Amino acid sequence: MSDIIRLLPDSIANQIAAGEVIQRPASVIKELLDNAVDAGATEINVIIKDAGKTSIHIQDNGSGMSPTDARMSLERHATSKLRKAEDLFDIRTMGFRGEALASIAAIAQMEIRTRRADDVIGTRLIVEASVVTVQEGCQCPVGTSIIVRNLFYNVPARRKFLKSDPVEMRHILDEFHRIALSI
Ligand SMILES: Nc1ncnc2c1ncn2[C@@H]1O[C@H](COP(=O)(O)OP(=O)(O)OP(=O)(O)O)[C@@H](O)[C@H]1O
Ligand SMILES: [Mg+2]
Repeated sequence: MSDIIRLLPDSIANQIAAGEVIQRPASVIKELLDNAVDAGATEINVIIKDAGKTSIHIQDNGSGMSPTDARMSLERHATSKLRKAEDLFDIRTMGFRGEALASIAAIAQMEIRTRRADDVIGTRLIVEASVVTVQEGCQCPVGTSIIVRNLFYNVPARRKFLKSDPVEMRHILDEFHRIALSI
């Protein structure tokens, strides 16, 4: 008999891993708000459509990212918040795994616009199912704006098991209040 074990392609591994981080629209909002807070934002706008099932737009006035960091932020285990094992014992940020954006990018269509204060132009990225289809310079305010469209569009089983809009909206408000009250 021949051997039967194979390594999964990155895209499938990412999709499976994404399910651990993102269960519903509220998980996306939690992860993006955490990132905005970690980036030192003093103003964060949240715009959602159809309880986050159609789109989630989070805009912050935080540090923004360089073009290379913006691209790197979509890789799994890519983070600016942790460098060595000892750092795990002194975590001062909401995130540290380098998983969130890679997970969201694997199971939705995502558009990122970001600019640091010292940069003249910003970066615009479009990514679908972990594939970056556009990376270009753009005019945008300092900070980061991320739009997540059609969550689970490529994972029909998960999309089908999302609850009604009022239920998903309640989960979103719970996450929103939890983060808003703690900062
Ligand atoms: N709104 C933002 N403003 C500035 N930088 C950001 C923003 N969102 C993400 N980043 C950068 O992208 C990196 C990856 O983000 P991601 O959320 O995937 O991982 P993380 O926050 O480091 O860890 P975790 O997976 O636990 O959330 C971050 O470490 C940060 O450097
Ligand atoms: Mg994060």
